[in-house]
Amino acid sequence: MSGKSDRPIGVFDSGIGGITVLKALRAALPHEDLVYLGDTARLPYGTKSPETVTAYATQATKHLLGHDVKMVVIACNTASAVALGPLTEALAPIPVIGVIEPGAKAGVKATKTGRIGVLATEATVKGGAYARAIHALRPDAEIVQAPCGLFVTLAEEGWTKGEVAEAAAKRYLAPLFKGRNAPDTLVLGCTHFPVLARIIGKVAGKGVKLVDSAATTAKAVEEALRDQGLATKRRRKGKTRFLATDSTERFARVGGIFFGEAIRAKDVELVDIKPD
Ligand code: DGL
Repeated sequence: MSGKSDRPIGVFDSGIGGITVLKALRAALPHEDLVYLGDTARLPYGTKSPETVTAYATQATKHLLGHDVKMVVIACNTASAVALGPLTEALAPIPVIGVIEPGAKAGVKATKTGRIGVLATEATVKGGAYARAIHALRPDAEIVQAPCGLFVTLAEEGWTKGEVAEAAAKRYLAPLFKGRNAPDTLVLGCTHFPVLARIIGKVAGKGVKLVDSAATTAKAVEEALRDQGLATKRRRKGKTRFLATDSTERFARVGGIFFGEAIRAKDVELVDIKPD
């Protein structure tokens, strides 16, 4: 039986977007075992109601508990935005880390003018969690938000460059850069968006900084593990396990783009998430 600190960390997203966070976790925590769950059967979360997202996210994270995880990382802005509170309560005493605060922190650190654009899903924008988190850190920040749901589909499709992605970026970014108070920083407030960073950066223009929550979330996880005495003392290379609720072949194929290294379809386990 493994010791408390040798148990894996559970990481969860609606699909493969959270693999951008997983990649940062893998780099920051080379000895930790990681279990990643993509709820691909029910993607997208970003167009659904807070009640539905909370129910899905609760089921997914409870599934991770079955893998004896010592901590859960919600690598999904939408689920973090609407369900961090209920999930923290439901999983206690297992610590739960979301990506909104780390994303807000990265945005506030990067901006010079205090004008920050947030690109996210419709549900994340509607809930206002980013605006609250940014204002908590920098009360005078001016925030403009854009729901960019099509980016999720483009990312899941692997269409991260080319004319379709560029046209979508132009359409989504235009309202943000219309006036004189254009943002100097864009927060990629959806874990699917970092794979589109190059095209978003090209459309936004040179002076605009792009940040996401991957690295800052990895840092928050590292600190929480340390503070709670949960960091593994093992020194072997940590294992990464992939679970998906649908389309394991597709998960492996496109997930490899997000992970930066190939994922074999036979290494992705199909799991069924039972409602409560
Ligand atoms: N990757 C998720 C996020 O960070 C949401 C994508 C979706 O399911 O709509 O918001």
